[in-house]
Amino acid sequence: MYICLEGIDGGGKSTQIKFLSQWLVDSGFKVEEVVEPTDSEIGLLIRKILTSPIATSSNTQRILGLLFAADRLTLMEKIAKFEEEKKIIISDRSFYSSLAYQNPQKWINEINKFAKKPDLVLLLDLDVDSAIKRCSREDEFEKKSFLADVRENYLKLAESDKTTFKIINANNGPNKVKSDIKKAVAPLFGICIDGIE
Ligand code: TYD
Repeated sequence: MYICLEGIDGGGKSTQIKFLSQWLVDSGFKVEEVVEPTDSEIGLLIRKILTSPIATSSNTQRILGLLFAADRLTLMEKIAKFEEEKKIIISDRSFYSSLAYQNPQKWINEINKFAKKPDLVLLLDLDVDSAIKRCSREDEFEKKSFLADVRENYLKLAESDKTTFKIINANNGPNKVKSDIKKAVAPLFGICIDGIE
């Protein structure tokens, strides 16, 4: 099972990933975490480009689209191995980040056709003003209009694939977000949700 957390920057993905992973381990499952961009050479190059003032220009976005697709492929053998070992994979971002951040979508789909798609996407949906307040970095990817478009793209993706996507309201406090995540994930693993607050 390949579960991915998605959303605009500032939604609290890393905190929730730590929590979800621990909760599943405590419930008796084997769990592995992965992160995109990775720490491969390609991932390092991506991180460098993300801090550039032209990171959101359309040409740089195309370059990033290709780099993210390549970086993602560096994870595929690892993911296949974890699946063989019957582990739950929890990923910080996935192919769906490319669909939401880069475009056009048809091209993103094409260049990612060898990437495995997550079975479940937990979309931590946050309003853009709160996202900006919560962001630590000040870079082009955290400009209001850019984030507003990305958020819109995520919501459209979620609307068009309700089986894969579960929207979690990330404007709520971390404890409510935690219990909403539990409720979204529990049925997949036969965990009883009665006791979940
Ligand atoms: P990161 O510092 O990991 O941000 P966060 O903690 O919010 O995930 O940087 C990842 C950035 O890269 C983030 O702004 C989203 C962006 N991104 C894309 O634009 N396309 C992609 O395919 C992926 C995986 C990430």
